[in-house]
Order: sequence, then C-alpha cells, then structure tokens
Amino acid sequence: MVEISTSVLNADPEEAMKTFYDLEVAKTDYYHIDVMDGRFVEKDTSSLMYSYASSIKQMSNLPLDVHLMVKDVKEYIEQYIALKPLYITFHYEACKDKEEVKEIIKLIKDNNIKCGISIKPKTKLEDIYEFLPYVSMVLIMTVEPGKGGQALIPETLDKISHLKEYLYQNNLEAFIEADGGIKPENADKLKEAGVDIMVVGSAIINSNDYKKTIEELKK
Ligand code: DX5
Ligand code: ZN
Repeated sequence: MVEISTSVLNADPEEAMKTFYDLEVAKTDYYHIDVMDGRFVEKDTSSLMYSYASSIKQMSNLPLDVHLMVKDVKEYIEQYIALKPLYITFHYEACKDKEEVKEIIKLIKDNNIKCGISIKPKTKLEDIYEFLPYVSMVLIMTVEPGKGGQALIPETLDKISHLKEYLYQNNLEAFIEADGGIKPENADKLKEAGVDIMVVGSAIINSNDYKKTIEELKK
C-alpha cells in the first residue's frame, strides 16, 4: 500500500505544533521536511525547517523524511544527523560530479540514515541508474522544486513507470517517492505508475480534515 509523507512546508507557523500533532493523529506515515537554501532554489526555508524538524522529533515517534533542496549537501547532512531522520534525500543536480554523488550516498549511510536521491522534472532517469543499487529511495520531482501548491507535471508520470520497470528488471529494491502537486484527484495515476510514497503538502495542510484527506489519498 502507498504511504503518505506530509510536507510541513506550508504549515501555519503560528499553529505549527498543533498541525504536527493533528498529522500524527491523522496517521501520516512520515513528516516531509523541505529544506531550501536560497541557492539551489530561490527560497530559504533552512532555519524554519530545522526548527520544525526539531519540534517534531520532540513530540512524535513518526519518522522524518528530509528533502534537501540545497547546494552544499554535506553541510546540511551534518546538521540533520542529530535529528536521526529515517531518510535524507539529496538532489543529483546539486553535485559537481559522480564522485561527489557517491561520497554523499556514503556519508548518509555511514550515519545509519537511509539515503534517497532526487531528480528534477527535466533530469533524465538514465543519469542516476548507476547509483540505484546503493540507495533506499528515488524521489521523482513531479513539479519544479522551490515551492508548494504547484500543479503536477503530467510527463513525470511516465518517468515513474519507467523507473518502476527498471528497478524490477534489475532486481533493485529502492522505493519510489513522488513529490509535488499530488492530491486525491490524481493519486490513482501515481499509484498506477508505481509510487510507494507520495509527498503531499497543500492538499493535506489546506484541507479541513487531515484524516479524511489521507484516507482518500491512500484508498
Ligand atoms: C517542492 C517541495 C514539495 C512541495 C509539496 O519544492 O519539495 O515537498 O512543497 O507541496 P505540494 O503538495 O503543495 O505540491
Ligand atoms: Zn519535498
């Protein structure tokens, strides 16, 4: 069954603690932490996301799913290690060469954290094939990274089905996560394409019944 990782990016800062609590009651499977550095993407959410992740860690046993949209990946890994996230996902496009990709994967795994690798909508799947035996998750961006509330780019669905087929053909066990523009109305398409974890921000956070929305996304 598909799992839900709720992005807290657009949570109302005034009510953040209540939102985190309500998400746990509503049975989100993970808290998705969107770390933006103002360099890899325009926005800078780094201090807000670190404070959100720290608060969540204090009040919940549910796992943190950290999505680094940052240029200096290693610096942020060092920062997040202390919070013991289940996953840290970094962007292939942030790395200067293949050596750096391998170093980052090793750094994350050496700290007993599962490693995810992410690609933007225009990046080809083929570019990351060689790394797939070494990661636990592939995060396919279904919007351009940078902000919540955008519409899903339909072409990214084919990418997900191709990836699913590639993993199967090559006996690889990585999970597929999709992120951006996912809502109850398009969830079926993502499931058909083979997604294991759906990242959902605004469709949950802006709904008035988190539990009902999460159930709708999962069914
Ligand atoms: C985009 C982020 C996403 C996004 C999800 O850069 O990685 O996690 O905010 O939010 P929605 O579901 O609103 O697209
Ligand atoms: Zn994200």
